[in-house]
Amino acid sequence: MTPDPTNRTEGPPSPVGGAGDPGPAAGANRRPAADRWYGRGQGRPLRPRQQALLDEVLPALALPQTGPLLLSDRFGDRPVWLEIGCGGGEHAAWQLAHTPDIALIACEPFVNGIASLLGHAVADGTTDRLAVWPAPAQPLLERIPDASIDRAFVLFPDPWPKQRHHKRRFVQARNLDRLARVLRPGAELRLATDHTDYLEWMLAALLAHPAFQWTARGPSDWTQRPSDWPATRYEQKAARDGIVSSYLRFLRV
Ligand SMILES: C[S@@+](CC[C@H](N)C(=O)[O-])C[C@H]1O[C@@H](n2cnc3c(N)ncnc32)[C@H](O)[C@@H]1O
Repeated sequence: MTPDPTNRTEGPPSPVGGAGDPGPAAGANRRPAADRWYGRGQGRPLRPRQQALLDEVLPALALPQTGPLLLSDRFGDRPVWLEIGCGGGEHAAWQLAHTPDIALIACEPFVNGIASLLGHAVADGTTDRLAVWPAPAQPLLERIPDASIDRAFVLFPDPWPKQRHHKRRFVQARNLDRLARVLRPGAELRLATDHTDYLEWMLAALLAHPAFQWTARGPSDWTQRPSDWPATRYEQKAARDGIVSSYLRFLRV
């Protein structure tokens, strides 16, 4: 039986209802929405310290834009985690600081977010285990070798609440195929959202995907954040506004 994420109270799990379409069909002559990026690249003007981080720290950490991605050359045999849409990098930095054996690839097209991430990693002394992809995730996912990622995070992806924008959502079949290819069997995919409609959409897409299995057994598994999963900046803002979040953990089977 599939747990119902809209049921946040104790009690037996019940089937999901009213799930969204997991993704648009590819248009014949256009790049599918799953391959495109609709966000913004820069917000406020960068402060000198942020610009210095981008000029002086980023070049050594940025993954090359072309050619094979030899993760083992960079990280040896460390488990490699991947965070897609890391925002200001607070969660990525926390994972690096609290899980000393891992390496992490942080992916974020918003340059102010990358500068913030670099500031955290420099302060924590974790830059030797960090790689950065300061661009949309889709082309990166195409280049990561098969079964080479040990954990992936998609935390609070943009919900695109209007129906006509649903096709822009990151979580959809085409991107789940990409994640399924790069994740090692047994790897965990963690997702979160504060948006009920996107939660149902995510579940519909993931439960329909043969490579993923939901680990939840009851409501506490999606209403409570595990202790090794810090709140992101976006989640904290939602909580201040009285909005509850949901946490999904899937296994790559
Ligand atoms: C709502 S914010 C959440 C940020 C962060 N995960 C948090 O919880 O604080 C969504 C983030 O995803 C990023 N994003 C949007 N499309 C993306 C894509 N195709 N690849 C990687 N990141 C993307 C945005 O730039 C934005 O920073």
